[in-house]
Amino acid sequence: MLSALKKYLLIPKLVRLSSAAPKDPQAAWDQYWGKVRTTGARGDVLWDSGDDHELQGYLEHLKRQMNPDLPIVDVGCGNGTFSRRLAAHFPHVLGVDVSANAVAKARAESEGLERISFITADMTAPGAARSVNAALTEAGVSGEANVFIRGVLHVLKRRDQAALAEQLHPLLGKRGRVFLAETDFRGNAVEYVSHLGATRQFIPAPLRDAICGLPMPGRFGAAQRLRAFPESLWDVVEDGPAVIETRPLTSAEPEQIPGYFSVLQAR
Ligand SMILES: C[S@@+](CC[C@H](N)C(=O)[O-])C[C@H]1O[C@@H](n2cnc3c(N)ncnc32)[C@H](O)[C@@H]1O
Repeated sequence: MLSALKKYLLIPKLVRLSSAAPKDPQAAWDQYWGKVRTTGARGDVLWDSGDDHELQGYLEHLKRQMNPDLPIVDVGCGNGTFSRRLAAHFPHVLGVDVSANAVAKARAESEGLERISFITADMTAPGAARSVNAALTEAGVSGEANVFIRGVLHVLKRRDQAALAEQLHPLLGKRGRVFLAETDFRGNAVEYVSHLGATRQFIPAPLRDAICGLPMPGRFGAAQRLRAFPESLWDVVEDGPAVIETRPLTSAEPEQIPGYFSVLQAR
């Protein structure tokens, strides 16, 4: 009992560390990506596990539910880790991120690869769908598209989740679908960081960087999906539990966070 309560002694440290994060989330993301030096299993980025085990788990759903003849838009692509892996399964991948620093990293890490391109855009902004369409046209793959989103909705405020979903709707047409995978951790911030190895004495560096620089994440499960993707506009094709993997923090293996996935189509 006492040891379970001990983790709450972390609260003052978390408050102190997170108080330095920029208040504007988009500025925070760009500043965060500007400081990233290395990615992958030994890198700076908390959610970049460095292997494709997590995607392997999604492929069953992606292959069954998504039209492989359509391009796929990786929304909130970060440094493009998943974009590059998706390129093996779709004719073109367009990665989109609000952070110009993230997109610069994604382009650098994808140099020499074909059928993959990146743009900077705020996917919650009116007109984001138009920018995506223009980029798909430029890539020679205009028309309907699939969408992949991993680890983005759970960091957005509720109204931004709905705004983002609204921008996705016109991209899909009749044949495109959305695949989303998000963390759905049932616990408070202290329990979340403790789950990822934080103690009062030590916080793993990639976790510490995220706490210091980024908006506090929430959870995104079926209830949040229903609010952001209302039944009047969206059909759920499939959904269920997922496991989100992070960079190894407490051992040589990636950490695992309980998550939620859903495949959706526009009504
Ligand atoms: C936790 S990271 C996940 C990155 C990537 N999807 C992955 O799984 O490796 C969240 C990403 O969403 C991006 N992001 C946050 N708000 C966004 C917005 N409004 N529009 C587009 N991208 C956004 C951030 O810059 C960041 O790269």
